Amino acid sequence: MCGIVGYVGQQQALEVVVSGLRRLEYRGYDSAGVAVISDGELAVRKKAGKLTNLESLLGDDPLPAATTGIGHTRWATHGGPTDANAHPHVSEGDARNAVAVIHNGIIENFAELRSELAQAGVEMSSETDTEVVAHMLADILPATGGDLAAAMRQVCQRLTGAFTLVAIDPACPGVVVGARRNSPLVVGIGAGENFLASDVAAFVDHTKDALELGQDQVVTLTADEVVVTDFEGNPAPVRPFTVDWDASAAEKGGYDLFMLKEIAEQPKAVADALRGRVGPDGRLHLDEMRLDDAVLRDIDKVVVVACGTAAHAGLVAKYAVEHWTRIPVEVELASEFRYRDPIVGPRTLVIAISQSGETMDTLMALRHAIAQGARTLAICNTVGSTIPREADAVVYTYAGPEIAVASTKAFLTQIIAAYLVGLYLAQAREQLDPSAIARILNELADMPQKVDLVLDTVEPVRALARRFADATSVLFIGRNVGYPVALEGALKLKELAYMHAEGFAAGELKHGPIALIEEGTPVVVIVPSPVSSPLLHDKMLSNVQEVRARGALIIAIAEEGDDRITPYADHCIRVPAVPALMQPLVSTVPLQVFACEMATAKGHDVDQPRNLAKSVTVE
Ligand code: AGP
Repeated sequence: MCGIVGYVGQQQALEVVVSGLRRLEYRGYDSAGVAVISDGELAVRKKAGKLTNLESLLGDDPLPAATTGIGHTRWATHGGPTDANAHPHVSEGDARNAVAVIHNGIIENFAELRSELAQAGVEMSSETDTEVVAHMLADILPATGGDLAAAMRQVCQRLTGAFTLVAIDPACPGVVVGARRNSPLVVGIGAGENFLASDVAAFVDHTKDALELGQDQVVTLTADEVVVTDFEGNPAPVRPFTVDWDASAAEKGGYDLFMLKEIAEQPKAVADALRGRVGPDGRLHLDEMRLDDAVLRDIDKVVVVACGTAAHAGLVAKYAVEHWTRIPVEVELASEFRYRDPIVGPRTLVIAISQSGETMDTLMALRHAIAQGARTLAICNTVGSTIPREADAVVYTYAGPEIAVASTKAFLTQIIAAYLVGLYLAQAREQLDPSAIARILNELADMPQKVDLVLDTVEPVRALARRFADATSVLFIGRNVGYPVALEGALKLKELAYMHAEGFAAGELKHGPIALIEEGTPVVVIVPSPVSSPLLHDKMLSNVQEVRARGALIIAIAEEGDDRITPYADHCIRVPAVPALMQPLVSTVPLQVFACEMATAKGHDVDQPRNLAKSVTVE
């Protein structure tokens, strides 16, 4: 989950690379570095800490003018966040022949390669796996006649694991070479200039014309040409695409935090996720649904594989998809699914939910499902990323770039997309009649406005968050679709406020967790609707009594007009009345604001929380 940028063209490479890194810093911010080629010499600057540390270093010790360069922001895997471990890594030799390399991923056989290099007398200057690539390239280059792409192909054939590699060699000025296996890398096609990056956000200011790269490919960039081969040197297919959002979408747009912006964008994101899904025939149409109705009619089980917030979206969807299709839906943490012996086959539809489309746990689970013969569908927010490329079908969420590490609008649009898939299955299997599908689509069509209403009433939530900023633990309880919302609320508090928080199914409290309740323990209660879920509402009131009797302090997220909860809630946050299955779309928003405000009150870096990265591209 590092940020990678490469550039060759007419502009000053340093400017293009550093501004690109700034767009990618959410992917990792333990250290940063750049390398350029100027007058046949390699020049490198790198520094531990955030990008601003590197920029200060560049101010004190500037790089020479150059039009070829690479840059990297790091999320540490092998070796701590130090100057020495920062990328780029450089082979032995002087400025006229040393090779510079940057890397995203993990080279799983690096120890073996390090010992081979040590036996050959090479001295390592870092603890990283990446450095071995720099030395291997330098070692192979002479035999290739100085062909950096050929050397990269040979090196890649010796590597195992996940890697995106980008390298430059002062002996090959005006050339940037990249390679990818299981890790993101996209090409930006400019006029007289070309770009490489982990994410299109790095070059969308300069061009919206991009190329997806496939598995095990090497790309060679010059200012006027892009050549893509496989690891054996054969020409490889690429898939051009156009970035479907403006550069401004990757900026804060006047908000102090990306997270605040992305919370506020949720009504529009939900509307965009729904837009254009119903054809003139009144039937549901899903982009790139490359599974025909006959296949969908034969499905006898759905398995959702995802991580973190995306897994919570899958848990929410389970209730609706089972209700609409009568197909069993299992929701599995991707990292667990891959390493057990799951029962999947040609009649299983495995749905991989991923905002980034690059989460390694989810990608590997998808590949495991494909190997077992399952039909696969990706729900993803990043066009051109790996997971949708490898799935049979894809439903994009169209939420626009989500920069803050803590996922917000992606979560709501993942629920929308999963609901659309559920309705599509019900339509293909004629499990629901068209009028029922139309009714549910109308309920969904109301959601952007309902989410907007919640945003108008979140000020009390901010005050509440500041009041609880010193709490040591917060519990979240929910029932039915409110249970995954409780899990999501707890996750937000963990990742932003660095506070212990735990979500429970409310009915589960009395089977153990209620022992956690002490005088004043804050318990956030996602209260089911007294109108659309009266039985669950009654049960939840009993659960609230149970925890209050033991001293809990109740923060209720409750529907407008629900007066029965009022006497038992120390604080009540109101959300609009919506149909039961739609409640997560409104009840999650106060929890996002609660966590964001609490983290702000505690002085944390909300957009780039400690130890985290936006896209976890290692297992
Ligand atoms: C959520 O706030 C976190 N950023 C994290 O749990 C995230 O949802 C998870 O890593 C999955 O990421 P993905 O959707 O890009 O696959």
